[in-house]
Amino acid sequence: MSQKIEPNQNADTLFQMACEVIPGGVSRHTVFNKPHPYYASKAKGCFVTDIDGIERLDFANNMASLIHGHAHPAILEAVMEQLQRGTAYTMATVAELEFAQLLCNRIPSVEKVRFMNSGTEAVMAMMKAARAFTGRPKIAKCEGAYHGTYDFAEVSQTSNPGNWGDLNSPNSVPLVFGTPQSVLDNMVIFPFNDIEKTIAILDRHAADLAAVMLDPVPHRVGLIPATNEFISAIYQWARKHGALLLFDEVVTLRVGYEGAQEHYDSKPDMTAMGKIIGGGFPVGALGGRSDVMKVFDPRESRLLFPHSGTFSANPITTTAGRVAMELFDRNAVENLNALTQTTIRQIEEAIKLAAVPISITGAGSMFRIHLSATPPQTYRQAFQPKEVVGIIENLLNYMYHKENIMMINTFACMMSTVMTQMEVDRLSEGLYRCFMHHKDVLEKLA
Ligand SMILES: Cc1ncc(COP(=O)(O)O)c(C=O)c1O
Repeated sequence: MSQKIEPNQNADTLFQMACEVIPGGVSRHTVFNKPHPYYASKAKGCFVTDIDGIERLDFANNMASLIHGHAHPAILEAVMEQLQRGTAYTMATVAELEFAQLLCNRIPSVEKVRFMNSGTEAVMAMMKAARAFTGRPKIAKCEGAYHGTYDFAEVSQTSNPGNWGDLNSPNSVPLVFGTPQSVLDNMVIFPFNDIEKTIAILDRHAADLAAVMLDPVPHRVGLIPATNEFISAIYQWARKHGALLLFDEVVTLRVGYEGAQEHYDSKPDMTAMGKIIGGGFPVGALGGRSDVMKVFDPRESRLLFPHSGTFSANPITTTAGRVAMELFDRNAVENLNALTQTTIRQIEEAIKLAAVPISITGAGSMFRIHLSATPPQTYRQAFQPKEVVGIIENLLNYMYHKENIMMINTFACMMSTVMTQMEVDRLSEGLYRCFMHHKDVLEKLA
């Protein structure tokens, strides 16, 4: 029998109780922390208050999903109104239709869209739809890129120097113990932004490849944008060989009004979306070319991809998401991106002033800080050995406990539209003190 949770119990006790009923005490690897995870009590705007009543400035924004910060009044109002009318029906809704229209009107490559419950599901549906459309089994993905927790999408997500193999033909490395060999055999791994090597790799699998999947600004690869030439080369290769180009814009949709794809000459055949389009609620969506998206159409005499989901397109998410995306209009995107540029400039000044070997990469309203004087260009350069991971943990702990600022565990920040110059100053000044405090250890890494 579980112990009763009393009011005002501390994080340590809560964690011990949690470990009795949840393996490792948490349901998300991301929020695991030693000696215990942090427990939230409430949040508003760009601030989160923990169970001890300490308020922190939030640059994590639930892993990039809260584009307007916490509890935005317009989203709350719309959701409250929908809540009173029910939360889920075994029926289609106007909320779903309105949101589908918004996304199709906003992103030119999205002619049709289907909703699901997470970015993982969106990527999974995208990969399966590509196989269904082409009748081919293999998908190519970039080494080190995170695409959620679908077996195939996870391959080579955490390759390391001991198993990643030759860059001319990177190994398909499993993430989860017990991943079937057939999964690994059906994934093709290529190096980011390296046209020559990537095309040579794709050529070797041309007859079997359904699609090439890319995150245009992959976080774990270093949060560096893909070059226009790289995307164009892959697009042309895909066109020549009857394969599809897939974008995972689960995170990068925030980069531009039409997502990161607005910066590229070649557009994807399908795009997986998530995070910000849920307005703070669980979400995923897959959009793309009408002829490709037909694989989902139950009116077809031969339905290639029957797709369902008990909570897919639920009216709470689609209502919140529509309001969030309406608020994130062209002006809001431009203003947020400009504020992010100011933030990056100020952090670069802090780096200079502290004279530490640190660099910064990013796009749109996101950036990542690297413990190296020059920014990484590839996953293999961005790869962090255990020692570096430990130092980053110390820096993040300093920011959390001394500066009361939350960042993402890769030492990255995701901005929100409710932030102002005041929050930017607080972050850059806090980082300056953090760099000075750890100057010795940072210099040793150089
Ligand atoms: C690029 C990318 N794709 C897919 C996902 C999976 O999204 P979710 O966590 O909603 O399943 C994530 C999550 O961080 C992501 O960063």
